[in-house]
Amino acid sequence: MRGNSRRLPVLRAGRLVRIRRAIESDQAELARLRADPEIDHFMGIDASPSAWLWRHVPLGDQSAALTDLMITTLVGEPLGLVSLWDRAIPHNAAELSIWIGAGHRDRGYGSEALRLTLRYAFDDLHLHKVYLRVLEFNHRARRTYEKCGFVVEGVLREEMCIESVWHSLLYMGVLASDFQAADLAFEPIDEFDSRMPPAVV
Ligand SMILES: CC(C)(COP(=O)(O)OP(=O)(O)OC[C@H]1O[C@@H](n2cnc3c(N)ncnc32)[C@H](O)[C@@H]1OP(=O)(O)O)[C@@H](O)C(=O)NCCC(=O)NCCS
Repeated sequence: MRGNSRRLPVLRAGRLVRIRRAIESDQAELARLRADPEIDHFMGIDASPSAWLWRHVPLGDQSAALTDLMITTLVGEPLGLVSLWDRAIPHNAAELSIWIGAGHRDRGYGSEALRLTLRYAFDDLHLHKVYLRVLEFNHRARRTYEKCGFVVEGVLREEMCIESVWHSLLYMGVLASDFQAADLAFEPIDEFDSRMPPAVV
């Protein structure tokens, strides 16, 4: 799955954002956006001196992800990153992670980027399931995931220790069939934006 997906062009656009495959020249802009304590907080990274390691966003051959997708506005301003990780398990399932940079959150960008990514995951990669882990106190992320059809499948009790306090993670998943129903509940968006060539194939 990984080898093929890295060759697939990715370009999808909605009303607010587009997603495209991240390329190495995105590195500096992603590093700037990722250097944000609020993202660290919701990703479960504490303020230890080594936290900066987690802010590094490896791209291309250095990335362990199945695919890294840059989230931008329709005119190309970088907003954040969404990634799919296959964890080398060949069951047509992938783990998802997403973050949106400071100043761009709470404007509907994350929800639309997630929706476009799930379309890519199910329509193009033919995945059966996408799953993720989210800190239970991350209500904004949980709401964003639920809107796109994710449901809580389990609780990973006291999985993360952040600044000496243990927190549980929710394991959430969306099946292709769940997503189809959730996608219909949104306002329609363009399937594919042909105004820009694929960034990387
Ligand atoms: C989680 C994240 C990707 C969502 O993207 P976003 O662009 O901010 O989200 P959107 O604006 O599209 O949607 C947020 C939704 O959560 C709701 N929301 C916001 N704060 C909330 C809160 N405290 N409790 C419940 N819902 C909340 C909003 O009302 C909106 O729902 P609505 O469309 O039904 O009104 C983004 O906020 C982010 O990157 N956060 C920091 C990193 C992070 O948490 N990553 C996920 C780790 S699992």
